[in-house]
Amino acid sequence: MDQTSRCRCKIWLVLCIFFICWYFMIHNAKWYTLSSPRTAFHHHTNPIEIIDSTEKTIPETTNTRVDNDNVDTGHGSVKEEIDWLNDAAEMRALENELEPILKKVRPKPEKKKTKKVETATDKVGERVGKRKTGYKSKLSCSGRYIYMYDLPARFNDEILDDCRSFNKWQNMCPYVDNNGLGPNLGNPQRAFSRSGWYATNQFMLEVIFHNRMKNYECLTNDSSIASAVYVPYYAGLDVWRYLFDHSISFRDSLSVDLAEWLQEQPEWKKYHGKDHFLVAGRITWDFRRETDDDEAWGNKLMLLPEFKNMTFLTIEKSPWHSNDFGIPYPTYFHPRTDNDISEWQSKMKRHRRKSLFSFAGAPRPDMEESYRDEVIEHCANSSKCRLIQCSNDNLKCYQPVDVMKLFQSSIFCLQPPGHSHTRRSTFDSILAGCIPVFFTPGSAYIQYLWHLPKKFEKYSVLINEDDVRHKNVSIERVLSRIPAKKVSEMRNEVIDLIPTVVYADPKKSKLEKFKDAFDVSVNGVLDRVKIVKKKMTSIDFDERFSWKYILFGSVDKHDWDQYFRYPQKVIETEAEGNETRR
Ligand SMILES: *[C@@H]1O[C@H](CO)[C@@H](O)[C@H](O)[C@H]1NC(C)=O
Ligand SMILES: *[C@@H]1O[C@H](CO)[C@@H](O)[C@H](O)[C@H]1NC(C)=O
Ligand SMILES: *[C@@H]1O[C@H](CO)[C@@H](O)[C@H](O)[C@H]1NC(C)=O
Ligand SMILES: *[C@@H]1O[C@H](CO)[C@@H](O)[C@H](O)[C@H]1NC(C)=O
Ligand SMILES: *[C@@H]1O[C@H](CO)[C@@H](O)[C@H](O)[C@H]1NC(C)=O
Repeated sequence: MDQTSRCRCKIWLVLCIFFICWYFMIHNAKWYTLSSPRTAFHHHTNPIEIIDSTEKTIPETTNTRVDNDNVDTGHGSVKEEIDWLNDAAEMRALENELEPILKKVRPKPEKKKTKKVETATDKVGERVGKRKTGYKSKLSCSGRYIYMYDLPARFNDEILDDCRSFNKWQNMCPYVDNNGLGPNLGNPQRAFSRSGWYATNQFMLEVIFHNRMKNYECLTNDSSIASAVYVPYYAGLDVWRYLFDHSISFRDSLSVDLAEWLQEQPEWKKYHGKDHFLVAGRITWDFRRETDDDEAWGNKLMLLPEFKNMTFLTIEKSPWHSNDFGIPYPTYFHPRTDNDISEWQSKMKRHRRKSLFSFAGAPRPDMEESYRDEVIEHCANSSKCRLIQCSNDNLKCYQPVDVMKLFQSSIFCLQPPGHSHTRRSTFDSILAGCIPVFFTPGSAYIQYLWHLPKKFEKYSVLINEDDVRHKNVSIERVLSRIPAKKVSEMRNEVIDLIPTVVYADPKKSKLEKFKDAFDVSVNGVLDRVKIVKKKMTSIDFDERFSWKYILFGSVDKHDWDQYFRYPQKVIETEAEGNETRR
């Protein structure tokens, strides 16, 4: 009796040791190089995805399934889902059990590095704007105080009360909820993370930003110590109500009203508005109506002479004007902690990417100069591309989970312009660790100077739009020729950008290490205000060359001139029902 039980014990011990060895092997060896003969172009996938053992999320790689290259086949069977859930729970239990052993092999968090950044950035003037790959350091509020106006409710809260009139085809009120984040998405198909995901509408930035500002660490009620003044006017939501069938007097009235109101304020008079800024969460062309006839598009907020000295932050800036600055569209992810971000980053690093490239969007049959149709054709023709084509009867395109899953399983994501140069989709793809492919520098490189690296080739691919128009290039060939090592470097860069392009939860977030899109924008504003305050005129160059001057510091001839011919036909009038497809 005794003998058999001891023997059983031994067997258990052997099994246990075997199990531990096996566990270490799959976590430390480059097991992925052995995996998946199902991936058609395996050599393109990143062989550098080292599993981070400090990471506590479930190893999602086990979740990837092949959808037979057909977007419409859905997402694997329910049974598969359940099996996987069990596996994940087991894995996690196992990890907890092995915790004491694993701890020893965990790399030390990079404390030293952060310290270094701190001391370096503490020096006066070094502080802001420099994209220290999204890292924050403890700073005093000196030089960072912001005064926020308590505007009359007609400029913000009452506009929200009017949410029914934003869009006559769709009730937008739910998107105003949760401080502008919209309805909580949960975590369907485990495509997201445990929390922090919302069905955020692309035009809700004003609300998110305002709520974030209410919790800004260096907010002050004493305007005399403030370095910048924030005007929480919901410019985009205001004009949204009147874009389609109202006369220009409706569209302009609140902007004009604001100009009058501001000019009465002592804070404005101090610097003629040069330290003031506001966030306009729609594209710049919605605020730059050049003529005064009712047929013309948008309002003239950004062209009002009173606002010439003010800084506008917007999701798409004009290449030919100098008073607006591009900041990221909101995405679906609104983290609360540093850990939320690093967990997501590790998940995206590990994620297996089955498609070389993908595209989600609608054709633009109404736009003659659009080459979206060609881009869609490239994708449809290629066995290495997955396509979610938006149409009125394909609702997938509007489902965050479908779009995010597509991007997470793709190496490159095509981002051709829509009605305007930029797309929210660009930020969704960065969030998914998918390398964006642009067709004009107008889509990002001249836009988000505070948020994206100037060396654009480090995180993206540029394919000349004329080559696509003239069918002189194969997108598939261009992308598949990029060496695997380069691809993985680019993807790492993209994943490093994630904190910089997300807006943390306005009310509940506590980011200490990372700077999010809000922090980076505020730093950008503070830097700019410091410079323009000293100057008599806000610009000393030909404003039409703003895009060049701001990016390269000169207005000399440049290769990109072909992309920004001035004057260009400004934005097409857009059908609102189709807006969500941008
Ligand atoms: C500013 O004043 C308001 C109202 O008096 C108060 O609720 C708020 O906490 C103050 N904010 C700061 C940053 O002092
Ligand atoms: C797609 O395939 C069709 C048919 O083979 C071909 O005519 C067309 O030129 C291709 N388009 C692109 C963009 O490659
Ligand atoms: C097509 O591309 C090649 C090489 O980039 C270039 O030499 C040629 O002029 C282009 N043709 C057209 C029609 O754009
Ligand atoms: C802009 O600032 C300058 C001073 O630098 C001032 O002369 C000018 O009047 C201001 N413009 C407006 C519209 O307030
Ligand atoms: C959206 O676009 C389609 C064509 O792509 C058009 O038929 C439809 O009228 C548009 N929707 C609205 C609301 O204008």
